Amino acid sequence: MSTEPFKNVRLLPQTNQLLGLYTIIRDKNTARPNFVFYADRIIRLLVEEGLNYLPVQSAEVETITGEKFEGCDFLGKICGVSIVRAGESMEQGLRDCCRSVRIGKILIQRDEETAQPKLFFEKLPADIANRFVFLLDPMLATGGSAIMATDVLIKRGVKPERIIFLNLVCSKDGVDKYHAAFPDVKIVTGAIDKGLDDNKYLRPGLGDFGDRYYCM
Ligand code: PRP
Ligand code: URA
Ligand code: MG
Repeated sequence: MSTEPFKNVRLLPQTNQLLGLYTIIRDKNTARPNFVFYADRIIRLLVEEGLNYLPVQSAEVETITGEKFEGCDFLGKICGVSIVRAGESMEQGLRDCCRSVRIGKILIQRDEETAQPKLFFEKLPADIANRFVFLLDPMLATGGSAIMATDVLIKRGVKPERIIFLNLVCSKDGVDKYHAAFPDVKIVTGAIDKGLDDNKYLRPGLGDFGDRYYCM
């Protein structure tokens, strides 16, 4: 599969290392401690890749050998926004890379019968419109929850081109739908699954991410 399925959709390079991590978290026999450990490793890769979308300016330093090194500084203020509950699992990975990063929350839950998303609350940094936003949710199935969360961000003044959505597994149709709604949002994902089952869970998927990370 191409690593760039659409403009602004970045699929992590499908290396053996990454495939091995997904094999562990997709395995129905993987218990919670290993699920958390290996999901966290994937999350770290997504965060590192997502950070590449931040603007930079050139910067020069002198090394200990007395020579110059031409590098860069990151520009732009950032924050994270997790879609509660499963998205909260990705906050630490962002914090590990961006010290004292501000984190907002949007509580959206899918109705278990209809799979329709429902918005319960949002708590976002007051100056979010001036920030690059890392939107965090490991699962994108129908796309309804991520679309609803992105609408909340845009209503709060965030520019779509400043949103970087980090995701572990999406469905092909879901990511198409999300990308069609927000062509300027950057999506970084590690896996694009073939479809959904009758309960709107990803296939092959990994089950309920929030339950496996927090409860099982
Ligand atoms: C899951 C997941 C996404 C959503 C994806 O959350 O974390 O937010 O479903 O499905 P969609 O693309 O069809 O909207 P869920 O509502 O199950 O809540 P949870 O985080 O508490 O598990
Ligand atoms: N939410 C999950 O946790 N998993 C899915 O497959 C779909 C929605
Ligand atoms: Mg769930």
